[in-house]
Amino acid sequence: MAFPSHVSIVEVGPRDGLQNEKQLVTTADKLTLINMLGDAGLTRIEAGSFVSPKWVPQMADSGDIFKQLTRKQGVQYSALTPNMKGLDAALEAGVEEVAVFGAASESFSQKNINCSISESLSRFEPLIEKAKALNIPVRGYVSCVMGCPYEGKIAPKAVADVSETLLDMGCYEISLGDTIGTGTPGATKALMDEVLNAIPVSKIAAHFHDTYGQALVNLYTAMEYGVAVIDSAVSGLGGCPYAKGASGNVATEDVVYMLNGMGITSNVDMDKLLDTSRFVQSVLGRPPVSKVATALLAK
Ligand code: HMG
Ligand code: MG
Repeated sequence: MAFPSHVSIVEVGPRDGLQNEKQLVTTADKLTLINMLGDAGLTRIEAGSFVSPKWVPQMADSGDIFKQLTRKQGVQYSALTPNMKGLDAALEAGVEEVAVFGAASESFSQKNINCSISESLSRFEPLIEKAKALNIPVRGYVSCVMGCPYEGKIAPKAVADVSETLLDMGCYEISLGDTIGTGTPGATKALMDEVLNAIPVSKIAAHFHDTYGQALVNLYTAMEYGVAVIDSAVSGLGGCPYAKGASGNVATEDVVYMLNGMGITSNVDMDKLLDTSRFVQSVLGRPPVSKVATALLAK
């Protein structure tokens, strides 16, 4: 077990971060946010979600976002697509990478995407095939990897099984979502020990919400196993509308600060990231959740 020397950060603020915001953020502000994140050195940005606007109103302008986005060279922009309708809308808007999102919990799958785990996998299959035929990479999320808001504890084996199936179906990477942030280093170890029996560490991303303040130590634990892709959201924005209390993805500022301190490169410029935090603060009218941003912006 060795720490990676470089971590690739997937910035999910414009999608996971904003999707839970009640107050509608304008398309122009979202575009500014996405551009600032690219300027700060983030090379993977989840910029939208092609889901039902009745379910998640905040993401209703994702088509406009992708049509209007000025793409920065070297940055991969992606979006969530839960079904073929979502994929077709994403393709129409010019999206270059998509993500399907399943779960290791039956109840969460029903609440989040209105179908069982096996139904969701059947929906993803033709979607992934179509995307792959068009050379569009597909990422696979698994939610509730360390706990479910409806079922409580989730067996690591259930996570490993869904992860393996999504990888076999053609996803290039599996993002393990601690959707409600209840995981601990002990739970992260149990998760990694099981999931690594099913898929290689090079295929894993860690998507840990910070609801219980455990995300950084859980990420540290996952990195000890060699995980080198981390999902985070600027300012610690975020949450899933179908996971009550799931406020706060781990903040990108906090992750970058930790990585810098460990000598692990991420190529993210902290000063520019803080400018982005300041911008988010001005748009939402409240201070960042990130402790690092709070401390550094106060200087
Ligand atoms: P459904 O109601 O079962 O779908 O929803 P349906 O096929 O029966 O269609 C019903 C209506 O939705 C129809 O419209 C469809 O056209 C429309 P109507 O005839 O009623 O006017 N529809 C769509 N509209 C736009 N885009 C689409 C689409 N599909 C159908 N793609 C559905 C199924 C999946 C659409 C719904 O449940 C949904 O949108 N869920 C979204 C849930 C969501 O976005 N959750 C947050 C993201 S996941 C997350 O945050 C976790 C993650 O961060 C990882 C972690 O933290 O664990 C990824
Ligand atoms: Mg999430």
